[in-house]
Amino acid sequence: MDIIATDALTKTFDGFTAVDHISFSVQKGEIFGFLGPNGAGKTTTIKMLTTLLTPTSGSATIAAYNIKTQRANVRENIGVVFQEPALETELTGRENLDFHARMYGLSKDQRLQRIEQVLTLVDLMDKKDVCVKFYSGGMKRRLEIARGLMHSPTVLFLDEPTLGLDAQTRRAIWEYIKHLNREEHTTIFLTTHYMDEADYLCDRIGIIDHGKILVIDTVDTLKKTVGNDVITLTCSDVQRFQQRLAAEPWITNVKQHTSSLTFGVESGEEKIPVIFDIARATNVTISSVNVRRPTLDDVFLSYTGRSMREPDAEKTTSAAKKTRRLFRWGKKQ
Ligand SMILES: Nc1ncnc2c1ncn2[C@@H]1O[C@H](COP(=O)(O)OP(=O)(O)OP(=O)(O)O)[C@@H](O)[C@H]1O
Ligand SMILES: [Mg+2]
Repeated sequence: MDIIATDALTKTFDGFTAVDHISFSVQKGEIFGFLGPNGAGKTTTIKMLTTLLTPTSGSATIAAYNIKTQRANVRENIGVVFQEPALETELTGRENLDFHARMYGLSKDQRLQRIEQVLTLVDLMDKKDVCVKFYSGGMKRRLEIARGLMHSPTVLFLDEPTLGLDAQTRRAIWEYIKHLNREEHTTIFLTTHYMDEADYLCDRIGIIDHGKILVIDTVDTLKKTVGNDVITLTCSDVQRFQQRLAAEPWITNVKQHTSSLTFGVESGEEKIPVIFDIARATNVTISSVNVRRPTLDDVFLSYTGRSMREPDAEKTTSAAKKTRRLFRWGKKQ
């Protein structure tokens, strides 16, 4: 069953298209990830799906409820953890959860029971009576996830769940996400620009850039499209060597960067001597060569022609940050 389904969902801001006719569906029980660089349109998509922003065109349903016409039903079925922290720091962890549960109309008994359940799930029982301003970054993030789970949502939206956290805390949060997906059967829609996160957590991912979905598939299938192994080499005449390698049928996805080339091959190590032979015959000098298994960054590169980490990917960061602050529940555009 499709828990999330979108059809040509689009959002424009003053003529600028932030989300551009995206169509995808997420199945019940899936962990689905939106992977894309800063400014790609991830948060805007989440805001539309969680009824915070009205789409400019297109449509979407959550648990079969229309996000435009059945907003209250949609909200009952979702939990959201926003990219920007949104906790009451003067309250304790337990008080934050209780406040949220009251807004959802849970009875006193339900609240008591559920607060204990979700705090146990994210390992914060021993901190429940501590004021949130004394929590570490990772503890705050876990509390936000717990809050998103209070009313047992069908779908939990997590916008950049581990942004700015250290490696160890990120790992721990990944485990909580997996755990609640298994234990509570919560469908999870998350956004991230961390490739390792998408790789580890997601059953399927959609790669989004400039508001468009470039591809949707399982992580394994996406990596296979790049080639079994990825070779990166630096050499003297990059352009000529690229043309020469592209003519070989066993070499796929030859991409040129400033002073290097990347391409996909089967059994990379065995192919290196052959590549050196071709270089010699073409009068090209290879100065370094590296063989590795493909990553999602290679997938992104092969679909966009640039790396997730290249400057173009960062251009919109500050604009995205500025606009992000304008949003709160209830303030729609
Ligand atoms: N309210 C708004 N008004 C104008 N432009 C906006 C608004 N909200 C978002 N944008 C623009 O839409 C684009 C997509 O922004 P969005 O926040 O969805 O990106 P993102 O993928 O979540 O990025 P990040 O990884 O930085 O969180 C950006 O160019 C951003 O500046
Ligand atoms: Mg965002």
